[in-house]
Amino acid sequence: MCGIIGYTGFRDAAPVLVEGLSKLEYRGYDSAGIALNTADGIKVYKKEGRLSVLADHLASKPVDGITVGLGHTRWATHGAPSDANSHPHTGRCGKVAIVHNGIIENYMELKAQLQGEGVCFASETDTEVAAQLIEKLYDGQPLATVARAYELLGGSFALGILFSDRPDELYAAKRDNPLIIGLGEKENFIASDIPAVLKYTKRYIVLEDGDMACITPDKVTVFNTKLEAVERPVQTALWDADAAEKGGYAHFMLKEMHEQPHTLRAVLNPRIKNGTPDFTGDGLNIDLISNASRLLLVACGSAMHAGLLGKNAFESIAGIPMDVELASEFRYRNPAISPGTVALIISQSGETADTLAALRMLKERGVPVVAIVNVVASTIAREADHVLYLYAGPEIAVATTKAFSSQAALLLLLAVGAANARGLLSPAQLEEYMEGFALLPVCVEDILANADRLMPSAKEIAKVDDAFFIGRCADYAAITEGSLKLKEISYIHSEAYAAGELKHGTISLITEGTPVIAVATQTAVYEKMASNIREVKARGANVTLICGAGAAAMESFSDHIIRLLPIPDLFLSNAAVVVMQMMAYYAAVERGCDVDKPRNLTKSVTVE
Ligand code: AGP
Repeated sequence: MCGIIGYTGFRDAAPVLVEGLSKLEYRGYDSAGIALNTADGIKVYKKEGRLSVLADHLASKPVDGITVGLGHTRWATHGAPSDANSHPHTGRCGKVAIVHNGIIENYMELKAQLQGEGVCFASETDTEVAAQLIEKLYDGQPLATVARAYELLGGSFALGILFSDRPDELYAAKRDNPLIIGLGEKENFIASDIPAVLKYTKRYIVLEDGDMACITPDKVTVFNTKLEAVERPVQTALWDADAAEKGGYAHFMLKEMHEQPHTLRAVLNPRIKNGTPDFTGDGLNIDLISNASRLLLVACGSAMHAGLLGKNAFESIAGIPMDVELASEFRYRNPAISPGTVALIISQSGETADTLAALRMLKERGVPVVAIVNVVASTIAREADHVLYLYAGPEIAVATTKAFSSQAALLLLLAVGAANARGLLSPAQLEEYMEGFALLPVCVEDILANADRLMPSAKEIAKVDDAFFIGRCADYAAITEGSLKLKEISYIHSEAYAAGELKHGTISLITEGTPVIAVATQTAVYEKMASNIREVKARGANVTLICGAGAAAMESFSDHIIRLLPIPDLFLSNAAVVVMQMMAYYAAVERGCDVDKPRNLTKSVTVE
């Protein structure tokens, strides 16, 4: 995934582009570049490495006074990170410059054709093929040229385009990758995501697949590939610029973890009316879910882990079977989908390629799709039959925290709503659960307020290269996410194991001092967990116990104890994930890792 931005207006474009790219680095950061449309033609400045390398490079360049340009921050797909492979890319005569997010899937075929016509390529990228093609097609009519290119380019793209003979115009085209148009006063923008332009405007248009646009400082026109003007609604961002800033925290991840009490209330409270889950505000009738013969949840990474927590709730309190599938596997299987199945698609970004492909496959099979998404008007949000937004605000850190917690909490609310709709809850049970939704943010506040108690354990974990997580039932779902958090930001290898599985092989790996994070919040399996903790202690493990109030028996043989506030079991596994988020954070900081931008990762994987 990459981040693209474009500007046309009255300001110097270079600083606007560089600042906008700093808000898009979460989309990829192995190189960056800008293109400026000057009186002497298009000038391109691009460097491998972080955005700061480009900024330093620009400091000595004549970029003042130029008010139209494009910018790009890259997550390499075709061609290693290098100056040459960085975007923007130009045609051989410099008449066209483009920035691109996505993958041109037929680029090899197009490249061969162009090479056959004498075009020499300066890079290994698929994007340069698009630039060379557009320049070859350019006949002085920008929109008609872009429309022709749109038809010839295969795969996915969000494109920003400059034509050297169109000094104050930007062009854009969109297929399967996000692209917005920011609407200012005598200035307009294109960007992959709204944070890039929030400093200047909260008003924006979301381009749809098949859309192209011509943008000048005073006018924005959107067209379809038949060159017919189309109307797109103007939206207003729910976030303001500082919401995308760190707000005094050392890292975005720390800020976003501390936002969780607020974001949990933001995702839950609007959907609780008269003490009952109510999704009518989302345009969703809970009967669609409560009457399902089976639920099929499809997602990637942490979103899938949220689904595992949801499965536990739907099956244990609503009696609805739920399958949880990895989108990257599901989309290539020929899954057996039984009649009456309803699909739940979970995605923070709403742009994850595998998850989007799974959604489209499910819709082709006539399966109703309910999406749980954070980014408003993202592709998955727009293509699902129903969408429930997280309202968690921009999540900038690559490692998800607040979005995960909101996904998991919303799934709990849906499960309680379905159980209630099926008449499975007594008034007292419903009241207990609804009280739990109010207590979950309070429990998380307590975890965050006492986070320093996690330091001893986190510092010990930071010293090792392998750690183990064990848990049962909903806690097993929780540790899958805890393990991923530790791996992805601290680079410590870890395994999440169903505690009952240890003796079937893994316990051979437990030696003196091996850190084991044991999550024991489910009363029904306390005794079993106590046995499992004894088993690893007997082999020398260093045990950190994250437990509910009733786990006193285990505390006596644990090395570190994190006791959660007494809230209903249904919610404790969700809360335990916040403890593990904080532990992973502290371990990563202790190891000097780049917490917000871990190596090799990107915030939203919009390529396969
Ligand atoms: C986030 O911490 C993870 N790095 C990652 O697994 C993420 O959850 C996954 O890529 C899915 O992203 P999405 O929710 O935007 O679809």
